[in-house]
Formats: sequence, C-alpha cells, structure tokens
Amino acid sequence: MSLLFTLAAYLIGSIPTALLVGKYFFQIDIREHGSNNPGATNSIRVLGKKAGIAVLLIDIGKGALAAALPILFNADIEPLYTGLIAVVGHCFPVFAGFRGGKAIATTAGTLLVADIQMFFIAYISFIAVIYFTKYVYYGSLSVGLSLLIYSFFTPDTEHVFVFSIFFLLLIYLHRSNIRNHLNKQEPKINDKSLKND
Ligand code: G3P
Repeated sequence: MSLLFTLAAYLIGSIPTALLVGKYFFQIDIREHGSNNPGATNSIRVLGKKAGIAVLLIDIGKGALAAALPILFNADIEPLYTGLIAVVGHCFPVFAGFRGGKAIATTAGTLLVADIQMFFIAYISFIAVIYFTKYVYYGSLSVGLSLLIYSFFTPDTEHVFVFSIFFLLLIYLHRSNIRNHLNKQEPKINDKSLKND
C-alpha cells in the first residue's frame, strides 16, 4: 500500500512544470536559458513574472497534493514523507531525463499540508535570508538548515535523519550556484543580466 503512495507521489513530483510551460507557451527549453534550472526562480527570470508564478503555484501544488494523499485515503504513512517523495520526483523527474528543479517550491507545498509550523519556520527564514543577502540560493539553503535545526528540538529523531539528508540534497542541488558564487558569477535576485542568458 505505501509502495503505491510512494510511486504516486514520485510521479506527481516528476511532472516537469517549468519545462512544459517553457516548451508549450514559449517554445524554449528552460534548461538552456538563465541558470538552466527548470524551477520557479528561473522561470520568473526567463519566462517572466506571470509564467514564473504559474510554475511556482503548480510546483507548490505538487507537494501539497502528494502530502494530502495519505490524508485523503486514510493511509498509514506520514504526509511529510509522501510530500518529500514528490520533492525527490521534482528534483529527479522520470518524465524529464531525471534533470529537475531544486526542491524549494515543492517542499513548500509539502509543508503547507504536512506541518504548518515547519512551513513558517522554513519559509520565513527563506524570505528573510533573501531579503538580507539578495541571493535566492542562500534562502533555499536556509530552508534546509532551519528544518534541520528545528528537527533537533522535536521528539521525532527520525526527522533529524530525514532533514540531514534533505539539507545535504539541497547543497548538492545548489552546487552550480555555489560554484558560480565562488567565481563571482552568481546573480543577485535583482540582477537582470541572466534574464535572456
Ligand atoms: O529555489 C531555486 C533557487 O535556489 C536557485 O534557482 O535558478 O537561481 O539556480 P536558480
């Protein structure tokens, strides 16, 4: 039973929203523009605000839907886990050659349904870090770090393990941002130079 939910969550997460919106509405492969990342940030950068926000909302919806599955079907599996499986699908999508996004929007949807307190901790930190540093990827890494720190203060030791892996995954997914930053080429949120490559 939980295998079925795992598979369903992975497939939901695998829907490559940014790729589809780019291909069908703009006739471009988003993976060849801007930061090359098929996610909401790069969609706003390359496809514009309207399309980017649509990608953001759908990617949030994927996490929310996957987390809602066990609630809707009364299944004995934590919503947080089905949501995080969708996050894995979003990052390594079977429908897009396993080249996906960087987890942040789909994680937001997951936490919105699975644990609202975690949602606020992670995404207030996301917004605050971006506000003060102007680097989106710093905000993204702070999502992982804040969840890991928070997990140490909860009785569920399994969550410490899960969020340690999650934080390491975020570092791996943002390796190109870290490399760019070291080469002084990572754009700030208000930098328009990457807009059309
Ligand atoms: O949430 C995605 C963000 O952390 C980085 O996106 O396109 O700037 O690599 P991007």
